[in-house]
Amino acid sequence: MNRIQVEPFGRGFDCADDETVLEGALRHGVLLRYGCKHGGCGTCTVRLVDGDVEEHGSSFALSPGDRAADLILACASIPLEPCVIDVEPSGLTEEEYLSGDRSRPHDTRVGAVRPLTGDIAAVSLDVVGDPIAFTAGQFVNVEIPGTELVRTFSLANAPSDGRRIDLIVKLYPDGAFSRFLREGAVAGLPVRVLGPYGRLRIHLSHRDVLMIAGGSGLAPLLSMLRDLADRDFDRPVTLFFGARTAGDLYLTDEIRRVGSRLRAFEFRPVLSESWPADWAGETGLVTDALSRWRPRLAHDVYLCGPPPMIDAAVPLLTAAGVRPRNVYFDAFTPATPMTRTAALDPIIDVMTSRAE
Ligand code: FES
Repeated sequence: MNRIQVEPFGRGFDCADDETVLEGALRHGVLLRYGCKHGGCGTCTVRLVDGDVEEHGSSFALSPGDRAADLILACASIPLEPCVIDVEPSGLTEEEYLSGDRSRPHDTRVGAVRPLTGDIAAVSLDVVGDPIAFTAGQFVNVEIPGTELVRTFSLANAPSDGRRIDLIVKLYPDGAFSRFLREGAVAGLPVRVLGPYGRLRIHLSHRDVLMIAGGSGLAPLLSMLRDLADRDFDRPVTLFFGARTAGDLYLTDEIRRVGSRLRAFEFRPVLSESWPADWAGETGLVTDALSRWRPRLAHDVYLCGPPPMIDAAVPLLTAAGVRPRNVYFDAFTPATPMTRTAALDPIIDVMTSRAE
């Protein structure tokens, strides 16, 4: 038995001799963030401040630089002696730590499905029973009725509204979830949802907030925006939203409505391919618009969109002086096949990571 001291909370739990740090935490009813539990996603990354651990199973989510910085994966580390860990790399709050693992199956029913653009739809699921408790920025795994498949989506609603699960779904001609939405998603149909998962979350600080969304990547940022409005956040917030044409932008009225509840909000839609003659927004790639805007040093930056957008934006931001540790992002890819069995031990097809 080894004691694990958890900083910066000054709390702790005991790990049995053959338990990983993550298993010990969950057994004691406290939470360390996790996703795959197999060393693959990096969600459970923490810093080993003192003590020693033995790596167990795979841990390919860590780079040599991570190891040099004393980062370990809680799901793949068995303590060899009493340890001190710092959970700051995982973005965990003390409130989440103490409330334990909130990831579990939720019964829902299809509420509404409505097209937002030619290839993006809004899906609203009504939660049956206890509300879902989540942090703005997190995602859920949705079982596709009538199949063994599961798809991963970020929540778009505010955590204060846990009786529903709002999703923004990219439609693919041959996608299993897209087919379900086209052919089977009638109102009232039961749908099982697992979660929440993921470590992307808003960091309330003295810094201004910059959000950058591309394509269907608005969902977690819209959830954060709604959460900030609920919290009466008093720092300036700027949202860049990139799309190809005006027809590919969506929920702009809702963005402005939520933004009007913030003390200082600026919405900067950006069109890259074509735009109406009377277009008053930005043109070019989001990164072009960012270069013109020139972010200042003191921003927390949140990005969600296609990997090329993230890859182009992050170096631009850091070159402009934003500190890498203040950059948080989701780079999403088209859904990869996942079965229900795997989803119970979720393999994440949304990579949530920090820029460093
Ligand atoms: Fe530990 Fe995925 S790497 S939960």
